[in-house]
Amino acid sequence: MINLKDRDFLKLLDFTPEEIFSLVELAADLKEKKKKGIPHRYCEGKNIALIFEKTSTRTRCAFEVAGHDLGMGVTYLDPSGSQIGKKESIADTARVLAGMFDGIEYRGFEQEIVEELAKYSKVPVWNGLTNEFHPTQMLADLLTIRENFGRIKGIRLSFFGDCRYNMANSWMVTGAKCGMHITLCANRTYFPDSELVKECKAIAEQTGGSITLEEDPRAGAKDADVLYTDVWVSMGEPMEAWAERIEQMKPYQVTEELMGLASENAIFMHCLPAFHDLGTTIGRQIHEQFGLKELEVTNEVFEGPASRVFEEAENRMHTIKAVIAATLI
Ligand code: CP
Ligand code: NVA
Repeated sequence: MINLKDRDFLKLLDFTPEEIFSLVELAADLKEKKKKGIPHRYCEGKNIALIFEKTSTRTRCAFEVAGHDLGMGVTYLDPSGSQIGKKESIADTARVLAGMFDGIEYRGFEQEIVEELAKYSKVPVWNGLTNEFHPTQMLADLLTIRENFGRIKGIRLSFFGDCRYNMANSWMVTGAKCGMHITLCANRTYFPDSELVKECKAIAEQTGGSITLEEDPRAGAKDADVLYTDVWVSMGEPMEAWAERIEQMKPYQVTEELMGLASENAIFMHCLPAFHDLGTTIGRQIHEQFGLKELEVTNEVFEGPASRVFEEAENRMHTIKAVIAATLI
């Protein structure tokens, strides 16, 4: 096991391929222990703080359950329940919390906020999602891919949707580091930052991976092992963004037709939450306003045999547990 004690977990650009693979292995081991009922209270007596400036179901629950399984105390600070940013700076918050806790999770807006928190914290800081990156999601997705295909390197993953935001950025970095073939598929207005593309392409050259930007959704889906999508409007973006996004992103909706172009054993993945039916308030509002019943993925694909979304969601917990354990002990 590679030693990651006292390291922050802010983005996968900061980690080597060996470190990333080793976290996935540790997660697989912890998952097996959990399934067999073997206790793994490796962090008994420690305490962690979870700061959420945006809402969450998976990430919050994953940190809480992982923390409890590891024998720790867990304190949740919700988007309105702390002084952070409003009455107390990030630098001061970091020093206060680091005096009481052994690790701090942060979900919020700009990546520079979590980087600043880490700079001023003497205990590890874990990124639970920023506008730019979602690294704990990546580990869960890698574990899910490994469980399905028995390997990560060489897997062809195509992402459909907003390629300028946290999920597409994270896939470029992760795929490059892990020697995967990543295709980001969108209208070119939604192509990622060219500096990050350049950096990831240089990494991919070293690992045998590749990064491709593609405007044609059918070409993007062809022979892929994984079709991946995310919401078209992310947390923190205004509701007014929907009209333009629907127009720009509709051709990139993951449908049975796109799944049919992918490789024979292709799977569908999504970080969740997903708009695939009318079971949500926003989904119903969009339906009333624009007449669409399903957005980034059709219900048929979401509920279909190739969908791995709930396995993926469970893996958030096992992989977050690996990050906590690896950086604290
Ligand atoms: N995928 C993910 O991060 O989900 P939550 O927003 O529910 O944490
Ligand atoms: N892009 C999405 C990811 C949610 C897990 C968001 O930031 O809202």
